[in-house]
Amino acid sequence: MHKTLPIALLAAIFSQPILAADEVTEARGLIKQFGTSLKGQLVGAMKEGGPVKAIQFCNVRAPGIASDIATHSGWEIGRTSLKIRSAANTPDAWELAVLKEFETKKAAGADPSTLDYSEVVELNGQKMFRYMKAIPTEKACLNCHAETIKPEVEAELKSLYPGDQARGFNEGDIRGAFTLSKPL
Ligand code: HEC
Repeated sequence: MHKTLPIALLAAIFSQPILAADEVTEARGLIKQFGTSLKGQLVGAMKEGGPVKAIQFCNVRAPGIASDIATHSGWEIGRTSLKIRSAANTPDAWELAVLKEFETKKAAGADPSTLDYSEVVELNGQKMFRYMKAIPTEKACLNCHAETIKPEVEAELKSLYPGDQARGFNEGDIRGAFTLSKPL
């Protein structure tokens, strides 16, 4: 026997989360800033000293750029993944669910570069705006995130990240996501 769900509950299930347009625009702007800065500096480090030098850049500068942006904007910003390299990027329960949803959508044919999600959640009594945007794997990423990489790159990654899971990616895969939040 099916029970009829109250209309209000059905509406809550089927409606999209109410998007705060300003917050989404702001979050996208910060991602652009973070992404451009990361990529620019990564390319520079690769040119200057090859992938091993560039690993040292990612190791030190990626978290540093994120915290600079956080200080200036009032947002928390970072990167996470279903297969993490740095334990500091481990997804929380909300992020894990969103990352899995991105994979489901990609499997159903969505272009990873279009995948994002936002929601207002309550954390310890504080309303938070949370936003995630998928990061597609590009050719340049394969130097350090493919199944097969140069032995010297492999050695450097092993020494810095003994628990590294961020390997085996192909172009077009979802490498992970930017994750942002701010108190409302
Ligand atoms: C020179 C090697 C190198 C290249 C090239 C590289 N990465 Fe990474 N990547 C790293 C390292 C090292 C970390 C760990 C950074 C840290 O400690 O926060 C990392 C972490 C990440 C993370 C955070 C989640 C995690 O696994 O910890 C994402 C997302 C990511 N990389 C995406 C990319 C993308 C997308 C590209 C291509 C545009 C790329 N990477 C190219 C070395 C690299």
